[in-house]
Amino acid sequence: MKTILNKGFQMLPFQVRNNVHWVGKVDWELRKFHGDEYSTHRGTSYNSYLIKEKKVALFDTVWQPFAKEYVAMLERQIPLEKIDYIIASHSEVDHSGALPELMERLPGKPVYCTANGLKSFKGHYHKNWNFQIVKTGDKLSLGDKELIFIEAPMLHWPDSMMCYLTGDNILFSNDAFGQHYATEFLYNDLVDQSELYTEALKYYANILTPFSPLVISKIEQILSLNLPLDMICPSHGVIWRDKPAQIVEKYLAWAKNYQENQVTVIYDTMWNATRTMAENIAEGIHNADKEVTVKLFNISHSDKNDVMAEVYKSKCVLFGSPTINRGILSAMAGFLEELRGLGFKEKKAAVFGSYGWSGESVKMLHDILSSAGWELINDGLSVTWKPDDEPVLKCINFVKDICDALLIHN
Ligand code: FEO
Repeated sequence: MKTILNKGFQMLPFQVRNNVHWVGKVDWELRKFHGDEYSTHRGTSYNSYLIKEKKVALFDTVWQPFAKEYVAMLERQIPLEKIDYIIASHSEVDHSGALPELMERLPGKPVYCTANGLKSFKGHYHKNWNFQIVKTGDKLSLGDKELIFIEAPMLHWPDSMMCYLTGDNILFSNDAFGQHYATEFLYNDLVDQSELYTEALKYYANILTPFSPLVISKIEQILSLNLPLDMICPSHGVIWRDKPAQIVEKYLAWAKNYQENQVTVIYDTMWNATRTMAENIAEGIHNADKEVTVKLFNISHSDKNDVMAEVYKSKCVLFGSPTINRGILSAMAGFLEELRGLGFKEKKAAVFGSYGWSGESVKMLHDILSSAGWELINDGLSVTWKPDDEPVLKCINFVKDICDALLIHN
């Protein structure tokens, strides 16, 4: 369990625009998310927003380990009983984790969520809070402005929703358009753009890829509402205040089976035979086309989420494993299971590996990728023992197949 000791650098609440205030938590030390499933090298933030119009609404909370300090901080911003509405846009505990602490202080206050949210909140917390179910197009008056609810199922859970604040033209997007990125500058124009887009793309690749068709239709639905958009306030990472449409356009591009001119070689190895193959193959592709980006990863020594982001950017990925116990090495097996679930589309693959005795790994890699919907360029390349001249020649022929499939001609 994380500690909740105050760290040296606390992000204080700040005004986002007019009566909208950020009241979240920057988590500088987080390095793993979703259990151990997602690496967060740059930490994260749990963004919560307090909207103090004639009526006061609170959008999302923070993760449970920070619940007490969150409620204490909120109380320094406003007497809690003045909060009229709690908008619970997503039940995952990184946003709802402080709700039990808050609701102890505000029994009976309405909690707005989707129908799926109700199921999930009850499943998580087993409380009969005053849930108010909303659907797309429902409105909640805050006095001079109103919140418009927009259900966003599968972006990225069935219960997810967004909210639009009229007058300030802010879209509170919850997980969508977010990044796991702790920064003292919570605005998109104040941070390192390379870091920002590295984290935004990694987030999309590892979390939203399976739901790309829904990303497109949801964005089209929001655009069809013709609402002016001055700011996007996600529940992780920076607020998009400078040209907020830029991240919407990126999402539209990323959702359309995005790829760059990149070939990625991913392998695992026991005694360096498969590594030797991987390096020869990578070198062969690089020699055939100096324009193509070629990246090489030993999956057992690499961060799987970072490598998955490279897979996401690639037009072709080559997978290599030696044979062990009639199968493939475990780091590769785990990676492929995650890759299968993400459902990448329109990517080519080829497989390779060395073996000493039985040699099942290449067929197994081939079958896993094929059943995951990948287009396999050929049957794969097996070599025995440590490659010398003849197996290296086979690697060269293997590279020719790949270059032909990718229309690379040297
Ligand atoms: Fe950031 Fe789906 O929780």
